[in-house]
Amino acid sequence: MKKLIAMLLALMLVMSGIAVFTACDNNTDEPAETTEANKNETPTTEAPTTEEQTTEAPAPQVLKMATNAYFQPYEFYQDGKIVGIDAEIAAAIAAKLGMTLEIVDMEFDSIITAVNEGSVDFGMAGMTVTPDRQKEVDFSVSYANGVQTIIVKNDSPITCVDDLFAEGAAYKVGVQLGTTGDIYATGDFGSENVTTYSNGNEAVLALLGGSVDCVIIDNEPAKALVAANEGLKTLETAYANEDYAICVKKGNAELLAKIDQAIKELTADGTIDAIVDKYIK
Ligand code: ARG
Repeated sequence: MKKLIAMLLALMLVMSGIAVFTACDNNTDEPAETTEANKNETPTTEAPTTEEQTTEAPAPQVLKMATNAYFQPYEFYQDGKIVGIDAEIAAAIAAKLGMTLEIVDMEFDSIITAVNEGSVDFGMAGMTVTPDRQKEVDFSVSYANGVQTIIVKNDSPITCVDDLFAEGAAYKVGVQLGTTGDIYATGDFGSENVTTYSNGNEAVLALLGGSVDCVIIDNEPAKALVAANEGLKTLETAYANEDYAICVKKGNAELLAKIDQAIKELTADGTIDAIVDKYIK
């Protein structure tokens, strides 16, 4: 029945000489109006020969990225949209692959699980490459560096990293759950001295409220948090230096090769530098 209607419709269109262009038609550069020249041409839309066949071009494939969007300037909300260095680099990578980027916001410590379960294609979240994570996922070439930095209140007795390690010191440290700040601080000061928060903002609120003495977090988010909150500063000395990369499910060599190639091209043509410059002054 559907087939019959479709054929009748097609016939009517041929007779009236109307050229049909669907919304997704690739021939958009051709005139849509009926001209003398195309009047007698067969319409570009043909009646489907089977029930399943459609005339629409397939929608671009979706590339799903997992992140934790409380990490300015890499990923954060602006007017209800996730923006930032990672969001823009990821969109540029997706464009190179001819795909549409979809960003899924989740807890930072859920990203690797989501990547491995396959509910997302890759993770990108200012994520540091560590030997332990390399056992769980595969990492792309690095696209940025990070430095673990310490945020304190302006009048804090902690003036440098060494103060945290001083004899008898038992400072309370706030970190984002599952981050390298969490992993290193727990190793150095013991879990009894480390409090984990869902994101850096919450850790900073705890610092302002006096429940922790410092927050250990990556330097750029640290700067953004200090800028957004009165009475805080970052210490000059770094706690750790690291490389950021994109992670994919272990063994997904095909996607990893495409991502690596895209990052190399976007580095070579200055796209990544331009994105970074936009967010880091
Ligand atoms: N670089 C740190 C890590 O990999 C922190 C990353 C946190 N990222 C985020 N989007 N919240 O552990």
